[in-house]
Amino acid sequence: MTSRQMVTSLILDAFGGHQAAWLTAPRSSANPSTDIAHFVDIAQRAEKAKLDFVFVADFPAIPDGSLEQLSRSAVSMSVLEPATLLTALAMSTKHIGVLGTASTSYYEPYNVARLWGSLDHISGGRAGLNVVTTRSRSASFNFGKDDLDEHDTRYERADEFVEVLNGLWDSWDDDAFIRDYDEVRFFDPTKLHTLDHKGKFFNVRGPLNLSRSAQGRPVISQAGGSEAGKELAAKTADVVFINAPTLEFAQNFYADLKGRLAKFGRQQDELKIVSGLTIVTGSTQEEAERRTADVSRHIHPEIGRQMISGVLDTDLSDVDYDSRIPQSKILDNVNKGQTYFGLIRKFVEEGRTLREIAAHFAEARVGSIVKGTPEQIADKMQAWFEARGSDGFMMRAMTVPGNLDDICEEVIPELRRRGLVRTEYTGDTLRENLGLDVAPSRYLGRIGA
Ligand SMILES: Cc1cc2nc3c(=O)[nH]c(=O)nc-3n(C[C@H](O)[C@H](O)[C@H](O)COP(=O)(O)O)c2cc1C
Repeated sequence: MTSRQMVTSLILDAFGGHQAAWLTAPRSSANPSTDIAHFVDIAQRAEKAKLDFVFVADFPAIPDGSLEQLSRSAVSMSVLEPATLLTALAMSTKHIGVLGTASTSYYEPYNVARLWGSLDHISGGRAGLNVVTTRSRSASFNFGKDDLDEHDTRYERADEFVEVLNGLWDSWDDDAFIRDYDEVRFFDPTKLHTLDHKGKFFNVRGPLNLSRSAQGRPVISQAGGSEAGKELAAKTADVVFINAPTLEFAQNFYADLKGRLAKFGRQQDELKIVSGLTIVTGSTQEEAERRTADVSRHIHPEIGRQMISGVLDTDLSDVDYDSRIPQSKILDNVNKGQTYFGLIRKFVEEGRTLREIAAHFAEARVGSIVKGTPEQIADKMQAWFEARGSDGFMMRAMTVPGNLDDICEEVIPELRRRGLVRTEYTGDTLRENLGLDVAPSRYLGRIGA
């Protein structure tokens, strides 16, 4: 029995992680993207499997691309707003964490502090916030901008954003609401702290009109893999999601990120590195491969082109779908997300065709994909975990609900038999279940600060 426990989490998808999953769903069924019963069902299955948290990704816009291309895709076209969705899930579950994305480039920190602070209260301390800078250009058009801000400027804003969030969540000491009937005082004014933040991006007086939650403040996750992303994660994140195509890549990332913690006065186990992993099981490896190929053959070429040209930020309309992408199409750098750009550039250098790259990206949109028997999948997860490629996984079902049972009823029980995941929830809050301390207030021990 290993004492270190694997972090387990699941992405909430409408049709599944695969880009073409919607084409394999029963034709008669209603659109699950906006059906709360669908997401409640996933969260309850994940809770039955005793996962740490469910996660909803988000972009405040439809994806970049032409209407001709986008009209063939079900991904991110009609989605529920994360704080609203997660609040409903919090009311339908008791133990599992509810973690979702907000963009630091387009929100104001006061709004996010209230929304996620409220979610943390409503869920009894099970909330998590995924801080992203947002890499899609179309989001900027919804917020009075003509283009994305520069990559590093987006991260500079994210850094200040999280600083303000944490400050606002510390507005009240835990014992501020004294309700002294004799003295007629509802709260002790010395236990209220006004932030008075004045910075480059934000001026926020505060305080937040909401008390601290059972876990102090929501768990903060982050998913940027660039240099600026890693610095922000090392400084502020409790959980980091990574896109790792190979164990070697994951180990390098793991060592690099954990190695940055000391300079921010943090311990190695204060940050959990969680690798994105799409899971497809079969009674044999071949069957799992066939199940995946059966979905991948549905990818429409226009969607394949849109996905890859979006990441490379280049026009691929004249590239034959079964040809290699010419090196001349690859920019030196992009202002969009750098992690995906780096991965796909590598595939181009290896000489893969546009169709092959699109299939890979459609199958493993966050991280890598593993296909095999539940034992083979558990072997791979155990190997990554024990070799310090990750502290756990953000699992994704290729199709939903089809492949959900693969994860919850086959792979997790196999990991449990090996003593790698818990048998029961051990704490009440997400921080406790992740083995993280309650976040202490910055004012702890200071009177009238
Ligand atoms: C598990 C996982 C979840 C992610 N969720 C989101 C998301 O909800 N919204 C988003 O804009 N990007 C999401 N991303 C993408 C990363 O945040 C992406 O790498 C980042 O936008 C680009 O930053 P970078 O230039 O630092 O790589 C996710 C990545 C992973 C691995």
